[in-house]
Amino acid sequence: MIKKLVFATNNEHKTAEVAKILSPDYETLNLKDINCLVDIPETGDTFAENATLKSSYVFENFGLDCFADDSGLEVEALNNEPGIYSARYSGIKDDLTNLQLLLKNMEGKTNRKARFKTVISLLKNGKNHLFEGVIEGNIRTSPAGTNGFGYDPIFQPNGYDITFAEMDMSEKNIISHRALAMKKLIEFLKA
Ligand code: IMP
Repeated sequence: MIKKLVFATNNEHKTAEVAKILSPDYETLNLKDINCLVDIPETGDTFAENATLKSSYVFENFGLDCFADDSGLEVEALNNEPGIYSARYSGIKDDLTNLQLLLKNMEGKTNRKARFKTVISLLKNGKNHLFEGVIEGNIRTSPAGTNGFGYDPIFQPNGYDITFAEMDMSEKNIISHRALAMKKLIEFLKA
């Protein structure tokens, strides 16, 4: 029997990608597919807590196994901010405003080290499994590139001389924090 697995996201593209990998062992559904139309509150203090809040919501309200992800940027010189507040660092959900605030807060800082992190929570048979993906890099002093989203134009991964936003999407999708966490999840589910 095909097992149903919910990916707690509204992103159709993300769902389709994972569904293809997990087929035919699992039927992957997203929030819309199960008619879950609420904006699940992310009130935790860590990526793991926020991811778990989302997976638990689906399990408790729909009784289905579920996984959810939460990501963000941690900047060493800013005490690992913006972290879980990455999407609304400036107070509003606007990528450019948030990026500009981060650059301003980094003015004069010599330690430019930063990392993108993703944590996935998988609630399967009532047990929570966490998977983490991390990519280390540096914050540039000015933006470069137009691909991607969020802080991509100012994040240069270690071993590269270009930012995430200057990178081909297919290349970013192999090395990114999200890809690394997803790879661990898929290995676990396929095992
Ligand atoms: P989410 O948890 O995947 O929705 O990510 C939360 C926020 O973290 C996003 O709104 C971005 O500001 C930032 N972020 C996460 N992943 C990336 C990335 O791959 N590139 C740039 N910014 C990211």
